Amino acid sequence: MERKDFLGKIGGSIAFTCVACMMAACSKDETTTGGTPGPITPTPAVILAVNLSTQLLLVNDFVSDKGVIVVRTAAGNAAASFSAFSNVCPHQNNPVTFNKTTGSFSCATHGSAFSITGAVTKGPATTGMGKLTVEISGTTLNVK
Ligand code: FES
Repeated sequence: MERKDFLGKIGGSIAFTCVACMMAACSKDETTTGGTPGPITPTPAVILAVNLSTQLLLVNDFVSDKGVIVVRTAAGNAAASFSAFSNVCPHQNNPVTFNKTTGSFSCATHGSAFSITGAVTKGPATTGMGKLTVEISGTTLNVK
């Protein structure tokens, strides 16, 4: 093989290899940018934060703020000891309130009522209240 032919063939191989390396490097950057392979799921934002050192100390204690009602349903500071709901009535979007004495929710606009689990106990609403996620971090309860 002539030197000229040899250099021509090896030069083409090197160029091909460099392009392949660059493409691999670029695609590698794209897949590692998010830190975790696969689709990125957005973390829900905290709607309401409650200090459990000073609030929600007893069963049926509640906080109503920022369109959320969160109620202590059991002792202990586990997420399962609390329920949180949107305060928007599923009937026609008016505000729902919590009654600490009866442990139930009601909407004064048309009289719908809901149990502590958010289920409808009296219409005209036909669906339950919108349940939200409760997470505990130390002595802070976060509603998402
Ligand atoms: S809006 Fe609540 S009962 Fe109608």
